[in-house]
Amino acid sequence: MTDAASSESTSDGADSRPMSTDEIRDTYADRASWFARFDWLDRLFTGRYRRPLFSQASGRVLDVACGTGVNFPYLPESVDLVGVDLSPEMLAGASQHLDGLELDGELREMDAQELAFEDDSFDTVISSLSTCTFPDPVAALREMERVCRPGGKILLLEHGRSDVGAIAKLQDWRADSHYESMGCRLTQEPMEHVAAAGLNVRDARTAVLGILTLIEAEPADEEPDLADEAAEPAGE
Ligand SMILES: C[S@@+](CC[C@H](N)C(=O)[O-])C[C@H]1O[C@@H](n2cnc3c(N)ncnc32)[C@H](O)[C@@H]1O
Repeated sequence: MTDAASSESTSDGADSRPMSTDEIRDTYADRASWFARFDWLDRLFTGRYRRPLFSQASGRVLDVACGTGVNFPYLPESVDLVGVDLSPEMLAGASQHLDGLELDGELREMDAQELAFEDDSFDTVISSLSTCTFPDPVAALREMERVCRPGGKILLLEHGRSDVGAIAKLQDWRADSHYESMGCRLTQEPMEHVAAAGLNVRDARTAVLGILTLIEAEPADEEPDLADEAAEPAGE
């Protein structure tokens, strides 16, 4: 990150009045038709990043905050997909997407911060442009880690504050109004959330002037079971 972009501590838009989960749901109810209409535009700009990242998914795959299903076409046809989102209106778009693809999939309305799945129940967990809207992004990332099996993949495409000073300043200027209209923290720092959640990052890179971050991670190593360790005889 350049000095110009990193030197100031600024609002990410949510500081003064963070939205509740219900308010975020209402915001996306209003925005769902807009997302469906401009799907093609999103794919034009982000498709080149989604494709290499999400084509690595395999096995049983969870797309957290799948929205209108923009990621689905980039997944291998062999995966067994579950898409979850808070917004029924966004999921209606995802359902249309799924119908047009050769993918086995199901969609469920669910809060990313409290996933209703067993521990270690997915081989790959993916999520895109989502941590910016979660009221508690670290809780959602910890849930992604919980449901991903040890050695599985957590693949994230996130956006945040640019590395380029002039762009970052423009984002700072827009942050409050953007959050009010979209429930999205334009200037978040995705890697800070990932670090706070304790994911084991295997690779991370930025693109588009540092606005996009592509993250390949896996669940952190299991905590050693202290009770077992205590029971073992000490080495002679
Ligand atoms: C900007 S859209 C991104 C959608 C899609 N992943 C994409 O890349 O286009 C953010 C999505 O996050 C969903 N969302 C926000 N908070 C959520 C939560 N707590 N649990 C599940 N989904 C949530 C919204 O409903 C919306 O569909």
